[in-house]
Amino acid sequence: MKRSRIYYLNAAACVLLCMPGGAVMANGILPASYPGAQLINAGRRIFFEETFNGNGRTCGSCHPADNNYTLDPQYISTLPADDPLFVAERHHGRHGRNNPLAENFEKPGLMRKLGLILENTNGFDELQDGYTLRSVPHLLAMRTSLQAPSAEAADGTQSPPVERTGWSGDGAPLEGRLKDFLTGAIRQHLTRTLNRRPGVDFRLPTDYEIAAVEAFMLSLGRQREYDDFRQIRMRNEKAERGRLNYLGEGLASGIPCNACHFNGGANTDPDFAFPADITPPAYESSNRSFAPRVEELLDQPGDVISGEPMPFDDGFGQGTNLFNAPTVIEAADTAPFFHANQVDTVEAMVSFYATQRHLRNGEVLPPIVGLNGSQVANVAAFLRVLNADENARSAIVLLQQAKDCDNAGCRRENKRLARAEINDALMVLQAASLHYDDVVPLLQKALRQLKRRHGIARAKTGLEQARALMIVRPS
Ligand code: HEC
Ligand code: HEC
Repeated sequence: MKRSRIYYLNAAACVLLCMPGGAVMANGILPASYPGAQLINAGRRIFFEETFNGNGRTCGSCHPADNNYTLDPQYISTLPADDPLFVAERHHGRHGRNNPLAENFEKPGLMRKLGLILENTNGFDELQDGYTLRSVPHLLAMRTSLQAPSAEAADGTQSPPVERTGWSGDGAPLEGRLKDFLTGAIRQHLTRTLNRRPGVDFRLPTDYEIAAVEAFMLSLGRQREYDDFRQIRMRNEKAERGRLNYLGEGLASGIPCNACHFNGGANTDPDFAFPADITPPAYESSNRSFAPRVEELLDQPGDVISGEPMPFDDGFGQGTNLFNAPTVIEAADTAPFFHANQVDTVEAMVSFYATQRHLRNGEVLPPIVGLNGSQVANVAAFLRVLNADENARSAIVLLQQAKDCDNAGCRRENKRLARAEINDALMVLQAASLHYDDVVPLLQKALRQLKRRHGIARAKTGLEQARALMIVRPS
């Protein structure tokens, strides 16, 4: 979670490298010879630099590349006070008028302490009460997590959005496609005033900008489903048992993680016979919504920090409680977890599933996944190693791009992001003392090698070795 070195450059260097407002220039990171590089690199620039004539924020204000495209309180604490993320905290707007975004735009206390962002998911008619507070999802592996269920598997979402985005699957207005999210996010987060008038408070994106940002977002992270969980073997014994527990072995009750997060992704297991009260038992792999009811937990951090119950978040549409299954592989290094950052460690996240759900209204629901305490730790170890493996894979891709780049900016940015991935892998393993005597030293060595002039090839080899020390894949 280290911030870029570039951020610490002095003001003189910033004149050369920084955009107005201090944001760092977003280099294209795909070498020109890669398929789609031109559009994706353009999308990246728009994502990190374009303010759409709004309040100064960009998409990257909440989805920074060196923090897995998400925000957490620790990361937020590294931002300068004048970062546009904090527009709601400014005392005076332009020309000394009162800040038009001071009320009903963000809840600054909950943003800083819990990383929550205000969303008017049911429209902008009742700004005073009509809002929810949500965490920022990472934008990784989105290519694998957009598939809406078929009519047979209709999961209670009326007129399902064409693609599944956002925590509740209805993040984007218009037709709910990923590309509609750009317009939706500009209106929600980039506006100068709460009137939200296109052409006055912000400008709408052009068709080219929409296509470029969509291509950029689809290029992030995993491009295909992860390996078959029944075929791989984890070399760490606890993680290996966690794999079996994840698949349902040893469960006392409930349904396995794998039913809703098939092979660690966001889609359903096509072979699992879902009980009809959970979701239609249609045998297909699609990104369905469920009602785990995290938002109603008693004593959740949002309520505890604000001293009063957070506004009820009713999920998809109105009053459905439905939330969209996110991917699991990418999760471990993007704490806190769930749609309002309800828990902040991997172990606590698995415990949510394994414990009784005692709700604000006094209701007590049974555990979703009947794991015992040891099994909770096993599944968490499994998720941590999977995430470290994915970080290593991603770092390898970035380092290859660094080698293929035709300019120094491209090379530097790929190396910077590769280091962030390696640091994430170290963090998720070390927090649970996993692979401390083989993989951890290799990752540390890779970081040292990247400081040297010609260290890229060696660092890549070390990362390949690290992956092989964590997971055995069928050849
Ligand atoms: C102020 C913070 C903020 C800004 C700025 C922001 N987002 Fe987001 N983004 C969020 C939050 C919070 C969510 C979760 C929304 C929900 O669940 O309804 C989200 C969700 C998303 C998703 C859905 C991801 C998924 O996994 O389904 C996409 C795509 C996205 N944002 C793209 C963008 C784009 C493009 C921009 C720039 C126009 C942008 N965001 C600007 C906070 C922000
Ligand atoms: C009935 C379907 C279902 C089952 C079973 C299930 N999940 Fe989930 N999972 C979801 C849904 C829906 C969400 C979104 C919840 C929310 O935030 O409201 C979610 C969220 C998550 C997240 C949060 C990701 C993030 O970025 O914050 C992780 C990680 C996760 N699940 C892992 C697991 C694990 C591990 C298990 C087994 C112990 C499991 N899930 C079992 C449906 C399920």
